[in-house]
Amino acid sequence: MNLLIHPGHALQGEVRLPGDKSLSHRTALFAALAQGSSRADNFLVSGVTTAMLGALSGLGVPWQLDGTTLHVQGRGLGGLRAPAAALDCGNSATTLRLLTGALAAAGVAATVDGSAGLRRRPMDRIVEPLRQMGTPIVASGPGNGAPLCLAGRPAGQPLRALEYSLPVASAQVKSCLMLAALAGDGPSTLVEPALSRDHSERMLASMGVTIETLLTPSGPAVRVTPPDRPLAPLHMQIPGDFSAAAFLLVAALVTPGSELLLHNIGLNPTRTGLLVTLLEMGADIEVLNPRQASGEPAGDLRVRFSALRGVTVSGARVVEMIDEFPVFAAAAAFAAGRTEVREALELRYKESDRIGALCAELRGQGVSVTEREDGFIIDGNGCPAGGAAVNPHGDHRLAMALAVLGLGARLPLQIQSAEIIRESFPEFVDVLRQAGAEFEIG
Ligand code: S3P
Repeated sequence: MNLLIHPGHALQGEVRLPGDKSLSHRTALFAALAQGSSRADNFLVSGVTTAMLGALSGLGVPWQLDGTTLHVQGRGLGGLRAPAAALDCGNSATTLRLLTGALAAAGVAATVDGSAGLRRRPMDRIVEPLRQMGTPIVASGPGNGAPLCLAGRPAGQPLRALEYSLPVASAQVKSCLMLAALAGDGPSTLVEPALSRDHSERMLASMGVTIETLLTPSGPAVRVTPPDRPLAPLHMQIPGDFSAAAFLLVAALVTPGSELLLHNIGLNPTRTGLLVTLLEMGADIEVLNPRQASGEPAGDLRVRFSALRGVTVSGARVVEMIDEFPVFAAAAAFAAGRTEVREALELRYKESDRIGALCAELRGQGVSVTEREDGFIIDGNGCPAGGAAVNPHGDHRLAMALAVLGLGARLPLQIQSAEIIRESFPEFVDVLRQAGAEFEIG
């Protein structure tokens, strides 16, 4: 599918967005590990979450989707069935890494695998600490990646508790190890160089697990005590995905005459680094009706077209906006002056090399961009030319970010292989069309 974007149409109106991807993944998996029935409203139905649900079926966990309401019949940590075939995680690293932690805790023999793109993602970061805990696990893919084969463990035999410092801040790694720690022979402590998204901490605590957060000299840490009773089921109202909202925010900021009201967006501070950065760039964005939804901060966002200025991003802020760099770079292309991103090497290990691929695609649209090993520099000039065809490099966020750039650019721009957008935000085109954007699908 090719997506042709005609620029210059102001975006107006009120928008509701699909549920948060990270919360949807966790709700499905954690509910499977609970004892009893869980329910989640506004569950994200998309490529990556379908991969998680498929894996749960392979483990004998019954679930049902009524529209966007998910029901899961939890089997408990000891109730997962060894799958008959490899569990296919598709393109979803979150599915693969979190699932592997849960399988380690359950002691189930299984193979986890995925697409060619997923096989290229680094897995040492979970395999190494899981082995330290006593998990029999082998990475047989190229570069020590997926497929990962777990041999299983006799029922009742715990894993070793872990004291571990993550080399990079990563919620996927942290969550994998937190799940494995549920079967530890004592409390496990995980230290991060900066705090990554803390959804697992909040959700597991709500299920009755003792979770302590502490600040150590090496960084923030979480301590997980293995529970002595079954995990309680979940009742979640999943807020809209801030990472989906990010595309709407930037689309409105760069398209003259735009004003959007985004309802019920998750505003967990470990996720909203882009919001803080856009405000520093001079964006007109207001947070309305701040509230709590199922243990997570949420609120509404009002955004208006704004003149942006360049900004520098590094350090902990990188972690708080880790998924938003493609769309942030699109915003920077419209800003006046220089934008610089540093200390963001981790971007090279996402769905694509988000430094190399992003710089190449932005350059194609006439943006002045300099690639650095751990980031990039963009010299914005108010309005990029657009006009070129975009290769999304198999990366849903790259495709959507360049589409957003196209909404405000001077010339129509085409996204090739745009079906990849369905991995995380299948409603992207419809939501923007309803707000006034003009797309042609070919
Ligand atoms: C996610 C964590 C992030 C993010 C991904 C979802 C999660 O990865 O990029 O889209 O749900 O835990 P890392 O924390 O590994 O950077």
